[in-house]
Amino acid sequence: MRILLTGAKGQIGRCLKDRLPEEWELIASDSKTLDITEAHNVSSMVKTFEPDIIVNAAAYTQVDQAETEAARAFAINATGTLNLANAAKAIDARLIHLSTDMVFDGRQSMPITEATAPDPVNVYGKSKLAGELLALNAHVDTTIIRTAWVFSEYGHNFVRTILTTALKQQTIAVVADQVSCPTYAGDVAEAIIQMIHMHHVRGLWHFCGQNIQTKAEFAQHILHLAAQQDPRFASVQIEAVQTADYPAAATRPAYAALSDQALRQKLPQPIPDTPLARIITQLLPTIES
Ligand SMILES: NC(=O)c1ccc[n+]([C@@H]2O[C@H](COP(=O)([O-])OP(=O)(O)OC[C@H]3O[C@@H](n4cnc5c(N)ncnc54)[C@H](OP(=O)(O)O)[C@@H]3O)[C@@H](O)[C@H]2O)c1
Repeated sequence: MRILLTGAKGQIGRCLKDRLPEEWELIASDSKTLDITEAHNVSSMVKTFEPDIIVNAAAYTQVDQAETEAARAFAINATGTLNLANAAKAIDARLIHLSTDMVFDGRQSMPITEATAPDPVNVYGKSKLAGELLALNAHVDTTIIRTAWVFSEYGHNFVRTILTTALKQQTIAVVADQVSCPTYAGDVAEAIIQMIHMHHVRGLWHFCGQNIQTKAEFAQHILHLAAQQDPRFASVQIEAVQTADYPAAATRPAYAALSDQALRQKLPQPIPDTPLARIITQLLPTIES
């Protein structure tokens, strides 16, 4: 199996690289070795390497910054994805692409299935939805996996932010009216590997962690587990606040928890959530006080 992975230095990219079978031939590209906005370079790398599968883990993921950098967000998340879909189509390769719960408007109150119509409320969500549609329309052999609130031992994420902030202040304000499903990037990587083996799986799928939580509940859970490993976290409090009182550049969907039961029923092996405590153990030595 030959795999071209883009965004290999991101959270999901790194977790996937850690887990891909060693016998598979891999080009793990990052933004320096393959900028997915450069159609010619994408096409020539794909034609030269001839991967069986392209996994696109590259994305513009700065949700607030996207509000003032819409052109850049669309260039990466929409045009970049189209470039990969076109290159995959040219050599009859499969494209596995990642997307987000932020394609939804947040008005739901039950876990959102693949049948729900997307209606993004911010530039990032709009750029990701544009990428989904371009990829699905450009190439029949496209698989899209939407996930949510991704964290890992790598890069910037909410778990790292809470741990870092907790060593600087005794109270952390976190919104209590945004709901989704925190998802470990390594579990997404496991799902991708299983989907690589499932040749009949095409189209749009959801995959996420199995705990539906508010951001404040997630933060509380992180601190509770961290306190079991380091007493400095025991006295830190989460102050539950409302989104309206915690202004951010981008509007976020209030409810964005995904239902991933359709995919989980098809996966050959179950993927239980990796314990959050394990990721915290890996992160703690890297957190500066
Ligand atoms: N993070 C989340 O909470 C979350 C939630 C739901 C869905 N997702 C989706 O999951 C996927 C992976 O997310 P992640 O958290 O792993 O993202 P990440 O950690 O931000 O990594 C994204 C990677 O994409 C690379 N990249 C950016 N522009 C590029 C370009 N023009 N060409 C090639 N590479 C480029 C970045 O490299 P540089 O750093 O060098 O720019 C970065 O390494 C994305 O599709 C994202 O939309 C993420």
